[in-house]
Amino acid sequence: MTQILDGKATSLAIEAELTQAVDARMASGLKRPHLAAILVGDNPASRAYVGHKVKACARVGFESTLVEHPADITQEALLDAVRALNDDASVDGFIVQLPLPDHIDDQAVLEAVHPEKDVDGFHPVNAGKMALDLPCFLPATPKGIVSLLDRAGIDTQGKHAVILGRSSIVGTPMALLLRRNGAPGNCTVTVCHSRTQDLAEHTRRADILVAAIGRAHFVTADMVKEGAVVIDVGINRIADATKKSGSRLTGDVDFDHVAPKCSWITPVPGGVGPMTIASLMENTLQACAQKDA
Ligand code: GUN
Repeated sequence: MTQILDGKATSLAIEAELTQAVDARMASGLKRPHLAAILVGDNPASRAYVGHKVKACARVGFESTLVEHPADITQEALLDAVRALNDDASVDGFIVQLPLPDHIDDQAVLEAVHPEKDVDGFHPVNAGKMALDLPCFLPATPKGIVSLLDRAGIDTQGKHAVILGRSSIVGTPMALLLRRNGAPGNCTVTVCHSRTQDLAEHTRRADILVAAIGRAHFVTADMVKEGAVVIDVGINRIADATKKSGSRLTGDVDFDHVAPKCSWITPVPGGVGPMTIASLMENTLQACAQKDA
C-alpha cells in the first residue's frame, strides 16, 4: 500500500512547535526571531518562493524583512547589501534568494554572508562543518527531507539511497546527510548526475530515491523498485489547458505511474516544498537562540 509523505501536514506540525518556542521566548523577555531575505530582479518563481518564506515568518511569529534590488544591481552594491544585514543586530539570519543575475558572482555573494547568519547553510564554513558532522546550519531542502523521513518513522539504517542530481543546494548535501552515522542516516549512498551511465540500473536498486534534477516526470515507473521510498524535489512548470493560468507545477517524478510501486512518496506540491520553508524557519530560530548565551 502506497503512503503519501505529507510535507504540508508535517510542516504545519513544525510550525506549531516554532510558534510555541517563540511564545516561550517572548514570555522570558527574549528577542523575537527575525529573518531577512534579499531578492534581486523579477524572477516570478523567486518572488513566489520569497513570498512563501515571508508568510511563514508571520505564521510562526517571526519578524521578517524583504530587501529588494533591481536585476541590474552591481556586484559591489549587492555585497554592500549583504554586509548591511551582517551588521544589523536586529536580523538573526538572512538569505540571498537564488538564482542571481548572470553578471553577479554567486559564490562571492554567498561567501560575504556571515556564517552565523547563514540560515541557508550555503557559506563554505557551514558546508564544511556539515561535511564534518559538526553543528552548523543545514541547507533547508535536504534538512526538510531528513525531517520528513524522521517524522514519518521511515527507517533509513543500512538502506541504499540513490540521489539524482549533484547540486550544491540539494543533491550534494542530501548525500552527506543520508550517509551520516545517525538516525536518520547510515544509508549507502549513490549520487547520479548528467554523466551517469545506465541511470535506471542505479535507480532500480534504490530503497530511497531522491529526484532533484529539475525535469518534469523524468523518473518513470520502470526506474523504481517495488516498495521504494520516493522523494520528489522537482518543481517544474508544465502546460495544462485545464488550468485558468494555462500551466501547473509538477515534480521530477511521474507520480501517477510511480506511486503505485512505492511504500512512500512525496506529492508535488505539498511534499518537499513546505518542508524546505519549515526548515528555514527552524534555522532562523537556531540563529536567534545562538545569540542568547
Ligand atoms: N533557490 C532555490 N532554492 C533555494 C534555497 O534553498 N535558498 C535560496 N536562497 N535560494 C534558492
